[in-house]
Amino acid sequence: ESSTEIDISQIAPGQAIKAVFRKQPVFVRNLTPVEISEADKVPLSSLRDPQTLEERTKPGKTNWLITMGVCTHLGCVPLGAGEGEVKGEFGGYFCPCHGSVYDTAARIRKGPAPKNLEVPVYEFTSDTVVKIG
Ligand code: FES
Repeated sequence: ESSTEIDISQIAPGQAIKAVFRKQPVFVRNLTPVEISEADKVPLSSLRDPQTLEERTKPGKTNWLITMGVCTHLGCVPLGAGEGEVKGEFGGYFCPCHGSVYDTAARIRKGPAPKNLEVPVYEFTSDTVVKIG
């Protein structure tokens, strides 16, 4: 089966977990209101790969940020999901391989990666379950 179901009921605001989807890591993050406002206040013109948080999440569920855990530079797994507070200077994810830094919408902000962390196809099958793929 090519899809993955993830129970999100235990992911508190401010936490992210790492799951596996098609043999690759996927990050599921419950953004705090502060993290959402941090993402929303960034001018799109300042972004390398301009996208709003709203474009990267589902309507009414902008706190649930679901992305592949694969750096868009050369494919390392960024830190920030399950390593405590290693989120990098923009509060999202940090790739230790060559120093790419992603913000609270997992958008690339600094370092060599060309694109934001990819948002996979997914849907909420209930309030507590996400089906990826
Ligand atoms: Fe992430 Fe190079 S693979 S910065």
